[in-house]
Amino acid sequence: MLALLAAALAAPVFAESEACPLGLVDKRAEEAEGKCCFSLIARGLPSHPSPLTVGQLFDGQNRINQSNLPIPQGSYCLPIHGGGIYDSKHRGCILTPPTTQWQCDEGAKPTPGFKISNNGTLLHGAEGGKAGSGTWWSCPTGDHGGWNLYSVPVKGQLKCVPVWLEADNCFSACQ
Ligand SMILES: *[C@@H]1O[C@H](CO)[C@@H](O)[C@H](O)[C@H]1NC(C)=O
Ligand SMILES: *[C@@H]1O[C@H](CO)[C@@H](O)[C@H](O)[C@H]1NC(C)=O
Repeated sequence: MLALLAAALAAPVFAESEACPLGLVDKRAEEAEGKCCFSLIARGLPSHPSPLTVGQLFDGQNRINQSNLPIPQGSYCLPIHGGGIYDSKHRGCILTPPTTQWQCDEGAKPTPGFKISNNGTLLHGAEGGKAGSGTWWSCPTGDHGGWNLYSVPVKGQLKCVPVWLEADNCFSACQ
């Protein structure tokens, strides 16, 4: 944690007009391809203090904490200046209308506007000059302790809670 903090503090300051590169070296060495890959934990669910892992169902739905997932921990890749996310099976990750459930679909063009903040928080809606939001909404599915993820609160689902997703890599050098 101290090392991360030091790296963040030592990061150069970029003018707003300049693109913001990654602040930390990609441990999985994919920067040469212009992308950076990461896994996620979720904070905010009633399991405090232990963070819960974000994994995936066979069909690419992202799930927090589900005990029987075929992909217990998801791996995702992002262009190094931010943009759309692909999962490890190269499925485009989308905020599915109308609920905005976050899932990765075969053949889908990923929803743009994702980036990882300098503190590791996964932001959505970070495009067109907008800073983006690190707040996600998670609702219990009733399936093996699993929770779905949405970018906005889901109407009619009363057990949803705000959560934050923390990446283990690909932190921004700027904001
Ligand atoms: C992490 O960064 C995001 C986006 O810049 C910010 O909203 C959030 O408050 C930060 N979290 C912490 C713990 O500093
Ligand atoms: C996480 O999953 C475990 C095992 O299925 C379950 O006991 C626990 O209640 C779940 N946590 C949450 C926050 O749902």
